[in-house]
Amino acid sequence: MKFTLITLFPDEISSSISFGILGRAIKNKVIEVDYISLRDYSDNKYQSIDDKPYGGGPGMLIQAEPLIKAINKVRSESNKNIPVIFLTPQGKLFTQKTAKAYSQINQLIIVSGRYEGFDERVHELVDNSSEISIGDYVISGGEIATAVIIDAITRLLPGALGDENSAKQDSFSEGLLDYPHYTRPEEVEGIKVPEVLLSGNHNAINQWRFKQSIGKTFDKRPDLIKKRNLTDEEEEILNEYIKDNKE
Ligand code: ADE
Repeated sequence: MKFTLITLFPDEISSSISFGILGRAIKNKVIEVDYISLRDYSDNKYQSIDDKPYGGGPGMLIQAEPLIKAINKVRSESNKNIPVIFLTPQGKLFTQKTAKAYSQINQLIIVSGRYEGFDERVHELVDNSSEISIGDYVISGGEIATAVIIDAITRLLPGALGDENSAKQDSFSEGLLDYPHYTRPEEVEGIKVPEVLLSGNHNAINQWRFKQSIGKTFDKRPDLIKKRNLTDEEEEILNEYIKDNKE
């Protein structure tokens, strides 16, 4: 999959995606990352691409024209209507479901916002584009958000993870949080690893893990349980978890 990144600070993104799983995915050509410097599309000798907001107020905005020129150039080179993501806290929330949907396509343009954001007209003028937010908080620019999105999508691509099952058991992959994990030693300050995990009985282990997954999601993220519409059997498993954890 190819990511084309339009940004003022390419180094901030490349330094975040050069290591570990992402670094390996680039090296092994699971993903390809292209950087487009927005300043190259400025129409003035100072290479500025921002200006003051009409109506007053603090900060500067990224102008529509250089951005549209940059996007059109990328699209014209590939003869395709490649989807565009504009990163902004005003966007639709990025979730595992969004990551899964984007992992099915072969090229994505991601635009990092800076300053107070973009001239609103880009959203009308660039077709096949979406405003995306990585969470209900504000960070200083879209570059870190871009790295987050590339990471979440890349994990889902064949060949990115050592173990193909890792992504399947990640939190949210089934609309639930991941179950708890334990490693050696068997006892830490009086707290033992749950018996069942030492039993070698894989059926029982899987059942325990699923019950924990439903139960922990109910405890910490009841909104996800509501969204998922539990089956009767899952409802029963959740009731058992609640009973197990009552005292
Ligand atoms: N830029 C600033 N805050 C952001 C957020 N929460 N998501 C995406 N881009 C952003």
